[in-house]
Amino acid sequence: MLRLEGTRIVLGVSAGIAAYKAIEVCRRLVDAGAHVAPVLTEDALRFVTKLSFDALASEPALVSLWDGPDPSPHTRLGQSADLVIVAPATARVLAKYAAGISDDLLTATLLATRAPVLVCPAMHTEMWEHPATQDNIATLRRRGVHVEGPDVGPLASGDFGAGRLVAPERIVDAAVRVVGIRGSAQDLDGVLVLVTAGGTREAIDPVRFIGNRSSGKQGYAIAHEATARGAVVTLVTTVDLPAPIAAKIVRVESAAEMQRACEAAAGAHDVIVMSAAVADFRPKQIADQKIKKGDDGGVPLVELERTPDILAALGAKKRSRQVIVGFAAETQDLVANAMAKLMKKQVDVIVANDVSAPGVGFEHDTNAVSILAGDGTRTDVALTDKRTIARAVLDEVVRMRSLH
Ligand code: C5P
Repeated sequence: MLRLEGTRIVLGVSAGIAAYKAIEVCRRLVDAGAHVAPVLTEDALRFVTKLSFDALASEPALVSLWDGPDPSPHTRLGQSADLVIVAPATARVLAKYAAGISDDLLTATLLATRAPVLVCPAMHTEMWEHPATQDNIATLRRRGVHVEGPDVGPLASGDFGAGRLVAPERIVDAAVRVVGIRGSAQDLDGVLVLVTAGGTREAIDPVRFIGNRSSGKQGYAIAHEATARGAVVTLVTTVDLPAPIAAKIVRVESAAEMQRACEAAAGAHDVIVMSAAVADFRPKQIADQKIKKGDDGGVPLVELERTPDILAALGAKKRSRQVIVGFAAETQDLVANAMAKLMKKQVDVIVANDVSAPGVGFEHDTNAVSILAGDGTRTDVALTDKRTIARAVLDEVVRMRSLH
């Protein structure tokens, strides 16, 4: 399999002298198996021709928001991309992207995508080192944008310094790394995986709810990892985070909505990973109007009832060869409680985390877990990023599938 096979890439080219190297990048991406859609800025055409990209890319290069037959090229490009690369990325394009200004096709596409974005800056040293550019790069990095380069070396002006576009092969390597295909075993190729993510919100009245601290990051990491390993993912989620471009997203809020979405989807999926933090209790009645404070200093009594246990219901209806994974946030007797949960809910795997430990579980970017399987195996994963945890959980899913 080629390193970028099946990957849809938008290659943005902005107006720097290094734009000529983007022609080589385009060629190499196509050679690596990617479907490449080039988007050039108006000024990039002063350095390179549209024809060069038309000849080498997988579809004709686009420049303007307005002159093609497609009324919304930026949303088509943004939504269908697995990766957007900007090479070279000029100071102007970086500034517009950081500020969220979408006044040409490239910047509009950058706003219209949830795919990972890789920018490869190229400019004169003074422009690169200017605090405005450095602030913009810091902003973009904070938002999860990948930045490759610039290199230090001779510049087109004859000066020497930071600002050279990184070599085309490095851009392709970075693209492979970002989409996470190289090195990922395709051991979930075509497997249908249902993932839940985030905490549910249980309404008290039209403006108030009972919620919890779940960020959804672990569920999204599982969705990304499963996609990289070839799975077809449905993500039932209460939060909006960058999702794999190919995933089907079902947006829900309450436990009842999550239950409906999961029960409708469960039968069609080979694997279910229930990483959402579903509320255990909800108000028995939801007030139609905002509950007033009143002048008498009194407080309303909100009577609670239990929510449905979605995981237990899915476990009870588990079809043959289906693998179901639950999560257990515990503060004591981690393994014993998690094992009891595994039996009670009739699931194959429980991922247990001690949420009282530092850096573990809710809201963190890191997690530490014990993965317990129905056949008695236990895998401990020490504190690490949530993508690594996702990898270990899916390794266990693959192992359980092989036992069936
Ligand atoms: O019983 P406990 O809440 O500890 O179980 C946690 C696991 O059960 C998680 O996988 C969670 O997504 C799931 N769960 C559920 N429905 C509930 C409560 C928890 O599916 N009402």
